Amino acid sequence: MLHKENLQLFSNKAEAFEASDDTPAHDVEAPTIGDVIQQRFGRRDALKGALAVTTVALLMGKALPARAGKGASAFDFDELDAGNDVTHHVADGYEAYVMLRWGDAVFSDVPAFNPASQSADKQHRQFGYNNDYIGIFNIAERPDNLLMCINHEFCSPEVMFPGLTASPEDNDFAEITSDLADIEMAAHGVSIIELEKRDGKWIPLVTSPFNRRISAVNTEMMVDGPAAGHPRLQTTADPSGRRITGTFNNCAGGVTPWGTYLTAEENFHGYFWTDEMEGKDGKKKRRKTGLGGEQAASYKRYAVPSNWYNWGAYHRRFNVDKEPNEPNRFGWITEIDPFDTSSTPVKHTALGRFSHEGCECIVNNDGRVVVYSGDDKRFEYVYRFVSAGKISDDNKANRTLLSDGVLAVARFNPNGTVDWLPLVYGEGPLTPENGWESQAQVLIDARLAAEALGATPMDRPEDVQPDAKSGKIYVMLTNNHKRKKDQTDAANPRAENHFGHIIEMMAPGRNHAADQFTWQLLIKCGDPSIAEVGSLWNPATSTNGWFGSPDNCAVDPQGRLWVTTDQGKKWNKTGKSDGFYAVDTEGDARGTSTLFFRVPIGAEMCGPCFTPDTETVFLAVQHPGTDGTEEFAGFERKSTFEDPATRWPDFKDGMPPRPSVVAVRKKSGGRIGG
Ligand code: FEO
Ligand code: CA
Ligand code: CA
Repeated sequence: MLHKENLQLFSNKAEAFEASDDTPAHDVEAPTIGDVIQQRFGRRDALKGALAVTTVALLMGKALPARAGKGASAFDFDELDAGNDVTHHVADGYEAYVMLRWGDAVFSDVPAFNPASQSADKQHRQFGYNNDYIGIFNIAERPDNLLMCINHEFCSPEVMFPGLTASPEDNDFAEITSDLADIEMAAHGVSIIELEKRDGKWIPLVTSPFNRRISAVNTEMMVDGPAAGHPRLQTTADPSGRRITGTFNNCAGGVTPWGTYLTAEENFHGYFWTDEMEGKDGKKKRRKTGLGGEQAASYKRYAVPSNWYNWGAYHRRFNVDKEPNEPNRFGWITEIDPFDTSSTPVKHTALGRFSHEGCECIVNNDGRVVVYSGDDKRFEYVYRFVSAGKISDDNKANRTLLSDGVLAVARFNPNGTVDWLPLVYGEGPLTPENGWESQAQVLIDARLAAEALGATPMDRPEDVQPDAKSGKIYVMLTNNHKRKKDQTDAANPRAENHFGHIIEMMAPGRNHAADQFTWQLLIKCGDPSIAEVGSLWNPATSTNGWFGSPDNCAVDPQGRLWVTTDQGKKWNKTGKSDGFYAVDTEGDARGTSTLFFRVPIGAEMCGPCFTPDTETVFLAVQHPGTDGTEEFAGFERKSTFEDPATRWPDFKDGMPPRPSVVAVRKKSGGRIGG
């Protein structure tokens, strides 16, 4: 039995993430940008949702200009109005239909979803929770169908399970029993589902032989690359250090040119747990620091353990007191063959261990494969992997390309160049004199190695997306309100960066393996009508079009950039729900953003994935009804299973909100976005 005083006081996983990501505060000059935003766009205005946006602009006496003529933009659609309410919205002329929901059958023998009688066995055969990245593949045998892989990043137990208490001050998940923890583990991982088109709409094909659920517990994985078998990967259950059970916190990902799926393990630290307590009687908390023995520096840098889930109360491998090396077995890029349900996924240690947001690939002009990945934590780094081998017609051989190569980390220079600093044992500071013993250690502790190399600490790097056509690489930097004035630099120019920014890198001559790139800012996010925010947009961006906290992105088959947002519980700083925005990158329209789709209250917008004909875009709506519902007009409290802020998408009594994949098409047919 777990006791409340032994647990952390978080109301949901987003708050737990915020808390774990905090760095010690420095002295701050008053008034802060946060104060200004709070004064001008405080809670009462936020409660009015979209209206408040207009109010702010008018109060400032600076109504934003109307959008420029459509001729300048690469997009042609009527912009959606920003706001925040109980359901999703898409631009006029488009239809957004819900295609797959948490609990939907992945196989033909699965009974109808009933959240009141859920079990781990059922969950292992159903679509998982909190869908994030989406990757699609053509199927040789059925060219009209698609094979879809979807990440299930985390769980929102407060709206998943009936009967949990969730008062604002006192929701600590002490009631997560062993059975509920098992459901959570089954709801993580990846779903692989074939889709077919019926009457113009994509639907899941539950009879497909390709369908598969991969979870935190049901799938054995292999380890390869320089850290495979290293003593720090060895555990009681796996003395070889080469066989790992499952994957979790799968955030974004990538699709390889040889037809495999890459899933990025992000906030793995939250899943590890200690029995050790600290603090005064009555205020005891599970310990988060000073653990790890010889690995203490690594534990500290990776925030292990963070005690977000109590799986460690029931399963020894998640308890760092018992299995101190288990955390070293997560935080990797994992490759999955979606066409072989019996295949063993591979964790590629050559790509380094950190909170991988994603892992987008491109084939370099010399045939080597390049993978970009952001480390989503304040003041962490942007990475690039270049394979040693070159791509060939032999897709089996191509599967070894991510096993051997050079991982490098970005240093953004004020003169507009980016240096890629190799994480290679024995080079630069990564020598025995400085305590580095092997390439395996460099990769297991990639954050520490990158710091030693002098990489640029960034404002939470999320998706890093190469565009084959232009040779550009877009870097989403979601926000970092902990950056102080004296910590600003050219590539992270704002102190208290509440709204994030987007950087473009350029590979010289489209050589993505070059030692040096160039970079420039594309946009600085936030409300352009508040001077203190210091945003940078094309003035053609409307009051609906600007956004905060860019997260995922996609370049569509036309070469156009689309960006999703994840503001978490702080959506009231913009007064808008999260959304999906078309962002111009070229010509007179460069830096113009236009709102296309938005999510219901409490949700995050993820997974933009376009079909090759650009006629459908798949969007992942995760954790609806959870984040920041205290600021939601008329609701103004935390959601629970029994009392959620929205019951999207079913809107049926007794059915909680359900993370879902939505498909969007143009009602009249044709390309998304014009
Ligand atoms: Fe899982 Fe960085 O978002
Ligand atoms: Ca995010
Ligand atoms: Ca993300």
